[in-house]
Amino acid sequence: MPTALITGASAGIGAEFAAQLAEDGYDLVLVARRADRLESLGASLTNRFGVVVLVVAADLSLPGAPISIQERVAEAGMEIDYLVNNAGASGPDLIRDRDWDEHEAFFRLMMTSVAHMCHLFIPDMQRRGFGRVINVASVAGLIALSGSANYGPVKRYVVGLSEELNIMVAGDGVHVTALCPGFTHTEFHDVAGLTQVKSRMPKLLWYDAAVVVREGRQAVESGKSVQVSGSLYRLLVPMLKFRPVQRIANRVGRRR
Ligand SMILES: NC(=O)c1ccc[n+]([C@@H]2O[C@H](COP(=O)([O-])OP(=O)(O)OC[C@H]3O[C@@H](n4cnc5c(N)ncnc54)[C@H](OP(=O)(O)O)[C@@H]3O)[C@@H](O)[C@H]2O)c1
Repeated sequence: MPTALITGASAGIGAEFAAQLAEDGYDLVLVARRADRLESLGASLTNRFGVVVLVVAADLSLPGAPISIQERVAEAGMEIDYLVNNAGASGPDLIRDRDWDEHEAFFRLMMTSVAHMCHLFIPDMQRRGFGRVINVASVAGLIALSGSANYGPVKRYVVGLSEELNIMVAGDGVHVTALCPGFTHTEFHDVAGLTQVKSRMPKLLWYDAAVVVREGRQAVESGKSVQVSGSLYRLLVPMLKFRPVQRIANRVGRRR
């Protein structure tokens, strides 16, 4: 059986990746901090699809997390064919939030752990001549809009990392894709305390995680290095690269 490792699998986009990959027959390694959630998702997927599930509770904002995940995978005798680096949060504001440790923890969760997981798991994929890696970025990583000066820039790193890796390892049968969703129905905005902002946004800007995941999986199969998810965002992102359109979007954003 092929095996997929998904970070941030206890909710939202990660849980949807787990469900879709289990349905396609992948055994799973599910990673997040809330082990209880992972256990109950894993039990239900084993029940429905007969797949083997390993739960690894880990906080990816801590420096040792990727190594300890790799050790647990090796102890279980599993090999990873499909890696989804998805765990994430909205994070602090670079200027307003004055605790630097909080920023460093955010950078580890959003950038360092993604690079470290690629560093640890891609070489075995190359050796076996097959691998799929999806790094969940965001449309915020493709355009400069007024935000926290943290979230957009870290997602930009994830896009750049994926593009370069995809060029480097494609010849070894390994595809790397940065999946860039726009607003997606998950727990993300509630965790960030932005539930009210969400309710004020036009409904057409919101996509279901099932669509995002399906498009990401298709993109990685076809070897695309960057996939913007959602037809509306595929239209909007090129427009938002023009400064006058950016200025309007920023003005509207500030009014919210
Ligand atoms: N929702 C959107 O509108 C949207 C748009 C663009 C991009 N994204 C990106 O999509 C990815 C998934 O987010 P989501 O929307 O599915 O949000 P979500 O429903 O809040 O899920 C976030 C997941 O990340 C995990 N996580 C958070 N901090 C972690 C940590 N320190 N260590 C390990 N796991 C951690 C959470 O698990 P625990 O709390 O159990 O650890 C949870 O499983 C993120 O990278 C996000 O930036 C989301």
